[in-house]
Amino acid sequence: MARLVVHTGKRPYRHVTEKGDEVWICMCGLSETYPLCSGKHRVVARESDNEHLMYDQRGEPIGQATGIQPEVLVKLRRV
Ligand code: FES
Repeated sequence: MARLVVHTGKRPYRHVTEKGDEVWICMCGLSETYPLCSGKHRVVARESDNEHLMYDQRGEPIGQATGIQPEVLVKLRRV
């Protein structure tokens, strides 16, 4: 069974551990070192808030995501 997972973040989330170490968590879903950010989010930075693209495993855009209401995407991107 296939599963569609939607990531709406365009940049990583900064987390500081109890020891004071800084960790960057991937919020775009394209990281090669997931769950840690690898810098691959630069690919999604060019997306507008009104579009949502699908990417292949190499992080190349393969088309527009369909079936997702634009209002829902805008709401998700605020999270
Ligand atoms: S946030 Fe996903 S690679 Fe940086």
